[in-house]
Amino acid sequence: MSENVSSLLYIVSGVLFIMALRGLSHPTTSRQGNMYGMVGMGLAILTTLVGHPPSGAGAWVLVLLGLGLGGGAGAVIAKRVPMTAMPQLVAAFHSLVGLAAVAVAAGALYAPQAFGIIENGHFHKQSLFEMGLGVAIGAITFTGSVIAFAKLDGRMSGKPIMLPQRHLINALLAAGLVLLLALFIGTESKGLFWLIVILSLVLGGLIIIPIGGADMPVVVSMLNSYSGWAAAGIGFTLGNLALIITGALVGSSGAILSYIMCHAMNRSFISVILGGFGGDTAVAGSGQVETRPVKQGSADDAAYIMKNAERVIIVPGYGMAVAQAQHSLREMADMLKKEGVDVKYAIHPVAGRMPGHMNVLLAEANVPYDEVFELEDINGEFPQADVAFVIGANDVTNPAAKTDKTSPIYGMPILDVEKAKTVLFIKRGMGSGYAGVENEVFFRDNTMMLFGDAKKVVDHILKAF
Ligand code: TAP
Repeated sequence: MSENVSSLLYIVSGVLFIMALRGLSHPTTSRQGNMYGMVGMGLAILTTLVGHPPSGAGAWVLVLLGLGLGGGAGAVIAKRVPMTAMPQLVAAFHSLVGLAAVAVAAGALYAPQAFGIIENGHFHKQSLFEMGLGVAIGAITFTGSVIAFAKLDGRMSGKPIMLPQRHLINALLAAGLVLLLALFIGTESKGLFWLIVILSLVLGGLIIIPIGGADMPVVVSMLNSYSGWAAAGIGFTLGNLALIITGALVGSSGAILSYIMCHAMNRSFISVILGGFGGDTAVAGSGQVETRPVKQGSADDAAYIMKNAERVIIVPGYGMAVAQAQHSLREMADMLKKEGVDVKYAIHPVAGRMPGHMNVLLAEANVPYDEVFELEDINGEFPQADVAFVIGANDVTNPAAKTDKTSPIYGMPILDVEKAKTVLFIKRGMGSGYAGVENEVFFRDNTMMLFGDAKKVVDHILKAF
């Protein structure tokens, strides 16, 4: 295959990746988007294999083994993983992208002829720069992602760990890396290459350790962005157009996503990276136990109140995802609609644990898209609503975000559920949400707590209907 044809095919796969991102931006087109992505990746792999075939039977066996084992493991994991564990899975996968970038750069360093990056016994300076930068970003992504995975999966405390002088240490490490990179380009020393790897691995860990559980999804998307830039860097070394395009797409989309999440939480990206928000409760899902009395109701009470309501706004959150209550919830909404009740869903941009978490679950339960509203479109309707039905949400309804300057969630826009005539709050107990802060709405006169697993409570309400 000529270079021109393979470049053309790589550009076609790049276009397919862009169409995939476009498709994934809405639940109605997301399956199609996934399909474009798969075809694009298939085309890129085929083009690489035909354009630069592995030399010899042994190399073919290795490539096919890698494809089979990697693809097989990916398929099994994707089938098995619950939606609630998706953020840690993404973090784990990013760590592999980082590791791959390190492995490819090392491959290029030890077999430069295969990559065409050496002339008269000397590496091209530009290739050394790409290799050094790619390997540094890859190694930072690797350890950073492993720690993000451990925190999100509850294998490590979600509490921010504040090391003394951490900003100074990180700054020194970063400066050391720049110096090593310059020396590596000048000397082509393999020892310096591995020193860059070690320093970057340490820096990746140190950057992520102080970041609290609540900020982890932002961090995961930031690492996603890093892994993209690492891949793009390596793409330049390999002279592989597909890798450059894909890396740039992943790098920029991850950066945009991090920005959107920070904006939705009203936090600056810098404050997230500097760490400190979110506590142990974050990963455990609930923490403080409150002793003040609350008004408690039963499923029968809830069914009665909602049947007699005109307008009900449902506010789903992380607890709905944990309980997998979305199907029962849709059945409940269908029943209410039959009774002539106007039912709408209010989605907070950071409800759940990843962007679009609630939208995906509601789409899976076939909730009509025209009943699902974003925060800015529905917030003004709570004062006219008879019932705000809060199911497994907490932080995204907490008025402390508007009133308490000392609260870690201060400034985050929230859904004004307390303005509805009645607030029905489903959760298992008095535990706090991800940010680990108490919610005053539990104690308001117009709030009725419905304690229990979200799915079980909704099933009881269905029976009570
Ligand atoms: P949270 O504030 O985390 O509250 C979820 C509540 O669900 C908990 O208080 C918990 O209370 C309850 N719960 C857990 N399992 C349950 C079950 N099986 N049945 C019923 N209730 C259950 O959730 P939220 O309101 O969706 O807010 C999301 C949080 O994550 C925000 O702080 C947000 O900033 C943070 N965050 C999200 C994102 C994205 S992109 N979504 C990104 C970064 C940060 P009990 O333990 O008492 O049941």
